[in-house]
Amino acid sequence: MANIAVIGTGYVGSVSGACLADFGNHVTCVDNNAEKIEALKKGIIPIYEPGLDTLLKRNTEAGRLKFSTDLPGAVKANEVVFIAVGTPPAEDGSADLRYVETVARSIGQAMEKYTVVVDKSTVPVGTGRKVAAWIGEELAARKLEIPFAVVSNPEFLREGSAIQDFTHPDRVVIGCEHEEARRIMKEVYRALYLNETPYIETSLESAEMIKYASNAFLAVKITFINEIANLCEKIGANVQDVAKAMGRDGRIGGKFLHPGPGFGGSCFPKDIRALARIGRDHGEAQRLAETAIEANERQKLRMIDKIETVMGPSLRGKTIAILGLAFKPNTDDMRESPAIAICRGLIEKGAALRLYDPAAMKEASWRLEEVKPRCHFAPDEYDAAKGSDALVLLTEWNQFRNLDFGRIRSLLKENFFFDFRNIYKREAVEAAGFYYTGIGT
Ligand SMILES: NC(=O)c1ccc[n+]([C@@H]2O[C@H](COP(=O)([O-])OP(=O)(O)OC[C@H]3O[C@@H](n4cnc5c(N)ncnc54)[C@H](O)[C@@H]3O)[C@@H](O)[C@H]2O)c1
Repeated sequence: MANIAVIGTGYVGSVSGACLADFGNHVTCVDNNAEKIEALKKGIIPIYEPGLDTLLKRNTEAGRLKFSTDLPGAVKANEVVFIAVGTPPAEDGSADLRYVETVARSIGQAMEKYTVVVDKSTVPVGTGRKVAAWIGEELAARKLEIPFAVVSNPEFLREGSAIQDFTHPDRVVIGCEHEEARRIMKEVYRALYLNETPYIETSLESAEMIKYASNAFLAVKITFINEIANLCEKIGANVQDVAKAMGRDGRIGGKFLHPGPGFGGSCFPKDIRALARIGRDHGEAQRLAETAIEANERQKLRMIDKIETVMGPSLRGKTIAILGLAFKPNTDDMRESPAIAICRGLIEKGAALRLYDPAAMKEASWRLEEVKPRCHFAPDEYDAAKGSDALVLLTEWNQFRNLDFGRIRSLLKENFFFDFRNIYKREAVEAAGFYYTGIGT
């Protein structure tokens, strides 16, 4: 079993650290956010991720998992150092590597013995070699020649089911060119390796590309069904039937064929933009990716137009209840959530909003800061509906799948029901006295 430091204790770092400890490794999770580390030491999880609290408790109590702000100390004490810091989008769509560079340089400044540096952050092709160069520069400045290896080990977990995804992955990708590092990575993932999880060894570049190509493909798939849904509306077809039958084809598969208000989150939007940027930089335009980015922006605006068309001519003076703000259920993450653009757009058109999300209210209160005076942050879905003219369902949380229609109908002033995740059957909603609008149905 390996001694591991995980640098960056966000959505990916905290889950990776806890799961790697659960595999039997000794893990120190490091972050430069002292507040976060203090909370974690007390067993308080700064994010919403089902099951993470239990896993942290179990492994902390077993002495396999520690938290620290001391990056140099963690580098010195461990043989494997994961980089799991954020790579947010820069102005031009490329990935901002400043956090990765800072951590790589800090590793070079602290390293005392052979170390395997594992890049788990999603980074553009070529970053693994840059990480090696940054560490090399810092070692040279210290006039030291300590051997080290850089490994690319992209992460495919989904927020909301992160622990299951990390512990039961479809594959583990290891981009690495050093035999010894490969052996150590097998130790790190021993629990999975023994379980016959597909273990794919590639070059650094291929591993980096696998992550971008996978995320861009899924984003394109969502965009494809969104566009088909929009067309279905015009020609009188039902996208639910179309998607179901398409998904039955083993070559296509039913996942990611659910139309909605556009993809969001911390990964798809930024990763597809970064891929498009890499394509342009190398003279190989990624046209499908470019088009999906544009179409996705249009899709969010389309939701605003749909609401205005149905409730119009104008939204001025209307109050709209929004159910669901996180970019998907089971997370509090609102990064690039379609809800942000939709809420802002509705307010620009003169509406006031009553908002509710089961986990993302704290996030929403600062992400919607500039439109806050026109927002009421409701304690539950029924309070959001109270006195509103319409109800708009944006995130398919389970607790929204079984709304008390009678109660909602009596709380709403008018009867507009926008189901932008197609979780209800039109007939059932109409039978309860609502005017139903879905997507592509
Ligand atoms: N969130 C996901 O679902 C997901 C899935 C797969 C891959 N990824 C990728 O993983 C990476 C991390 O994503 P995330 O969502 O966990 O980000 P995050 O913003 O939640 O977490 C990043 C953490 O790194 C810390 N940090 C930044 N600089 C640091 C430094 N110098 N020293 C120590 N800590 C530092 C921050 O304080 C923060 O806690 C990104 O590249 C992302 O694209 C994310």
